[in-house]
Amino acid sequence: MSHIAAATDSIGLIQLQKRTGTAGSLVVLESLKDVPFDIRRVYYVYGTPPGASRGYHAHRALRQFAVAVAGSVTMAMDDGHRRWHVPLDRPDRGAMIPPLIWHEMHDFSADCVLLVLASAEYDEQDYIRDREEFERLTR
Ligand code: TYD
Repeated sequence: MSHIAAATDSIGLIQLQKRTGTAGSLVVLESLKDVPFDIRRVYYVYGTPPGASRGYHAHRALRQFAVAVAGSVTMAMDDGHRRWHVPLDRPDRGAMIPPLIWHEMHDFSADCVLLVLASAEYDEQDYIRDREEFERLTR
């Protein structure tokens, strides 16, 4: 994906503001400011073995924002019609994953720590894990 959006609710990369000095960099993620939703949950994925992929689902209502705070990973997303491959390889840039976007994570580097901010608490009922159901819903 070539375009980088300001904090928006649509699919895409968001460039985060960083405060850099002689002692390194700091990035802040505030609800409804740096991230376009109210942050209700934070989780992170790490230690993904070589060749392993994750995701393979969409959400009915959940909004998520993913940042590789270390290492790199590719976020492959599609809305049932178009596909996006978003490289996440720097801590000051993240991918917005709106509802009804199928997402898969591939090519994790061994040192990848993928931080995910979510707009709601965990709810298995919000997941669409069946690709055929996803295609029916997005047709
Ligand atoms: P899942 O969302 O399927 O992971 P990924 O998309 O990265 O492959 O979640 C993996 C497991 O962890 C699944 O059993 C659900 C559980 N889980 C929680 O209990 N709470 C959470 O907030 C998340 C994200 C997952």
